[in-house]
Amino acid sequence: MIILGIETSCDETALAIIETRLDHEASANGGYFEYRILGSLILSQAELHSPYGGVFPTLAKREHAKNIIPLLKDLFDKAEIHSRQNTSSKDNHGIPSFPNSGSNQISETEFNGIVEKFKKEFNGQNPELLEAFVRADFLRTIPLIDRIAVTEGPGLEPALWVGINCAQILSELWHIPIVPVNHMEGHIVGSLLESDKADGVWQRLKTLPLPSVALLISGGHTELIKIDNHNATHQKALSLKYDIIGQTRDDAVGEAFDKVARLLNLPYPGGPHISKLAQEAAELDLHSSIKLPRPMINSGDLDFSFSGLKTAVLYAVRFASEADGQVNLQFKQELSREFEQAVAETLETKLRGAIEQTGAQSIIIGGGVAANKTLRTSFQKIAEEYGVTLFLPSQIISGDNALMIALAGSINDKTKVSADLKANGTKRL
Ligand code: KG4
Ligand code: ZN
Repeated sequence: MIILGIETSCDETALAIIETRLDHEASANGGYFEYRILGSLILSQAELHSPYGGVFPTLAKREHAKNIIPLLKDLFDKAEIHSRQNTSSKDNHGIPSFPNSGSNQISETEFNGIVEKFKKEFNGQNPELLEAFVRADFLRTIPLIDRIAVTEGPGLEPALWVGINCAQILSELWHIPIVPVNHMEGHIVGSLLESDKADGVWQRLKTLPLPSVALLISGGHTELIKIDNHNATHQKALSLKYDIIGQTRDDAVGEAFDKVARLLNLPYPGGPHISKLAQEAAELDLHSSIKLPRPMINSGDLDFSFSGLKTAVLYAVRFASEADGQVNLQFKQELSREFEQAVAETLETKLRGAIEQTGAQSIIIGGGVAANKTLRTSFQKIAEEYGVTLFLPSQIISGDNALMIALAGSINDKTKVSADLKANGTKRL
């Protein structure tokens, strides 16, 4: 089965195509789930949002709408999707590759009919998407794609709608079903990918020792999730059960990095800048005289709160500012290091609590903040301490991408009728 993944929940427009199969010969009891990556592209809007100090939802929406169809063209070219042959149907889990069999060309009348229908349905929303769609001749040749997996939430609703609307058009055009995917489930199963390379090599998912705890840390989320009942190598037994056991009561950890960066006059996204300054401070052996709070480490539960930490930074910056309202480089380095340490200690405490509470055999880390080197070292230390397996994905897999969406959409097969799809900004696992 070939799956197109679409991700537009925040400020990355991401598309991917993967192929999946059950390798019956490998096992007597049903076969192993295997996949290969045919293509994966991510277009980041971070620079455009930089002047706003965070993601500006209407701008994100417009950029997704403008870019998604040209990005799809790039993906098709890179994955050579139009020159692929219709091979065997046994790999397709029984779904024929050309459900509207006969010609794989869409007639002018059918194409125009679909454009008119969506013009009415979108009711003035996402005009850039429809414009790009009308110009995209490559879409009129039906590709060997069996299913579309699209993020329906959580995320920024105007941004989510672009991916959903795009999936709806393509689904109607190519007569294929849509699988709505929870973005957080994407982050979890994405960490089981062997690699992020679009090299077309067949792979198996990593085996996930259970129960497991996932710590998802991004610009929009800070969650601890208990995962159980999962057999990652055996598709028929694949059933993931998620329980949210801890979450932020206010800001997400990535958001705290971004807000602190703004207070220190650093560009958005702030995480990498804070991280760089903290590293410089460590190399120069600089320590801050200010001790920031480690929020909620004694709360007795697994919840987080980062807004107080940000406020503590605000006061520290005000106190240290010179007449021009600026703070010097050494202050920025020291405070970045102290802030990163406060975040690390907070996450460590909660992660330890989660492992002890659940008896976890493994830890999954997901979300853009997982790129932070100090935090990665903390997670490695904890995994060693408890003797559990750590899934610490590459920067591409831990940040937002569509590979994880395509994968989650191939594992769960809850297809939805196009008209029933709806963006859900606060969708829970
Ligand atoms: O998962 P992601 O790419 O997008 C969503 O928010 O969904 O995460 C982006 C977040 C931003 O807040 C960014 O500042 C943070 O990840 N980030 C980092 C680092 N790299 C990115 N935070 C700390 N250290 C980093 N090295
Ligand atoms: Zn994310």
